[in-house]
Amino acid sequence: MTALPSPHGGKLTELLVSSAEAAQYKAASKDFPSWDLTARQLSDLELLLTGAFSPLTGFMNQADYASVLQHGRLANGLLWPIPITLDVTEKFSEGLSAGQHIALRDPEGVLLAVMQITDIWKPDKSLEATQLYGSQAGPEQGRRDSNHPGVHFLFNQVHPFYLGGRVFGIELPAHYDFIHLRLTPREVREAFTRAGWRKIVAVHTQQPMHRAQIEAAALAARMTGANLFIHPVAGPSKPGDGGHYTRIRCYEQALRYYPEGSTLLSLLPLSLRHAGPREALLFAIIRKNFGCSHVLMVDSPENLAEHSDQPLSTHQQELGIEILPVHNMLYVEDRAEYLPSDQVKPTQRIFALSNTELTRRLAEDLEIPQWFSYPEIVAELRRIHLPKYRQGVTLFFTGLSGSGKSTIARALLAKLMELGNRSVTLLDGDVVRKHLSSELGFSREHRNLNILRIGFVASEITKHGGIAICAPIAPYEATRRQVREMMTAYGGFIEIHVSTPLEICESRDRKGLYAKARAGLIKEFTGISDPYEIPQDAELVIDTRDYSPLEAAQLVLNKLAMEGYLR
Ligand code: PPS
Repeated sequence: MTALPSPHGGKLTELLVSSAEAAQYKAASKDFPSWDLTARQLSDLELLLTGAFSPLTGFMNQADYASVLQHGRLANGLLWPIPITLDVTEKFSEGLSAGQHIALRDPEGVLLAVMQITDIWKPDKSLEATQLYGSQAGPEQGRRDSNHPGVHFLFNQVHPFYLGGRVFGIELPAHYDFIHLRLTPREVREAFTRAGWRKIVAVHTQQPMHRAQIEAAALAARMTGANLFIHPVAGPSKPGDGGHYTRIRCYEQALRYYPEGSTLLSLLPLSLRHAGPREALLFAIIRKNFGCSHVLMVDSPENLAEHSDQPLSTHQQELGIEILPVHNMLYVEDRAEYLPSDQVKPTQRIFALSNTELTRRLAEDLEIPQWFSYPEIVAELRRIHLPKYRQGVTLFFTGLSGSGKSTIARALLAKLMELGNRSVTLLDGDVVRKHLSSELGFSREHRNLNILRIGFVASEITKHGGIAICAPIAPYEATRRQVREMMTAYGGFIEIHVSTPLEICESRDRKGLYAKARAGLIKEFTGISDPYEIPQDAELVIDTRDYSPLEAAQLVLNKLAMEGYLR
């Protein structure tokens, strides 16, 4: 490959068609097979349509895909590090052939683009994983259960067939949040021109910026005589992902600490691949397309490690954008300011705070020093990183019928209400069956459905900072685990196995159900004619032969206090 053409001579390849063509495509699209785009594909399509992925004109064909994986270049030799492909199910791919059009729609069915297919193929995912992630994915790359997020996504979320072809854009994917921060490459370039900025440092970040990162960007601007374009990655967010919104509000707060009119902030709707140095190159190409002259990857060194094992600067001439070295900024006590690490004398005392320590301090409501971050940014973070005593938690009792779950749960409810500083909801087995699951019986399928409904309601309560007490039998381990997993993003989960043995429950037989079950009058009765899988990872085990209901409730309260959920 000789005399490589520059991919970024500056021309934007925007793929939105004129309104007349869009109307024609819309009319014709009712006969096209329709593909509902995944969250990643929506991001990719937005970047294709706006020209952030210039010079790509659509999703890659097989030749480009293979060449990108093998050489980090498109088939025509242009530098391009990451495949941008449209993955579909086998079923969808079956009726398709080259030359055909398909409609690309958002999850609500809105037609965003039409694609003319040139290639349909089944990729070798193990090869893709090895070529894309190589050794950084660890020895298990190419494995479905890999811990590497990129490999995991490839094997578990990406469909088995790829389609390549030119894309004709009808409209951009809709966003409802931070609309004022969603500028296209054209809009950003126009803003630069209006402001008279020629040299612009794009600041790539995926984390909240604190003083070290804010200062690193300011230093880069001073050293290059450039203005700053803060361009954080804000890819697909899940509903209820408060972290995403918090991070963006933190950037808005960070802007206050740059001289007015010197800095522009916009969000980059990129779905990350976690592909190390290859991805860093993509970050640079995108910023070139946004009209920037320099790019600085500013995240804390812990997060940048994955991007730094190849000198990216070797490509910068070919790309036409300068990739700035990251200065590790350190807070120097006797200067009361941040300095690049190479300007700090060994005798000077420096301060540092790791991400782990920051997270711990937020979780435990401890002080975050002024030298580390600005108060407005810390206040934003504190809104989401609530201390445990303000986080929601689900207390999930499980055990045989008559084991004492409901009685302990009621005692616990009374105790928590007496304390008075938390909002508490009891989802008792019997009560739930009367209201939420009245049509369900006791087959395995219906029991699981019942438990998942309880889990859903509990997760909503937990998400909003309440305490949910659940007290169903919940006989199946896999379903209990599913409920636990539903909760992890939102707050705590404490499983309490009420382990009173069957013979005791049966001898109590308060409702007379065991006698009926023995007599064959009730089918599928837990413990008699239906299974109960003993919990393996319960946080507490309580046998009601050893404790009164009040004592058992106190055990749970102690556990809550120990974990920090009560103050
Ligand atoms: S499950 O398995 O978690 O969906 O059960 P759950 O919703 O907790 O309902 C259990 C209560 O329903 C009564 N009941 C039965 N239990 C077990 N097996 C069968 N076949 C059955 N039929 C009715 C019983 O009163 C349970 O109440 P508790 O409070 O657990 O004694």
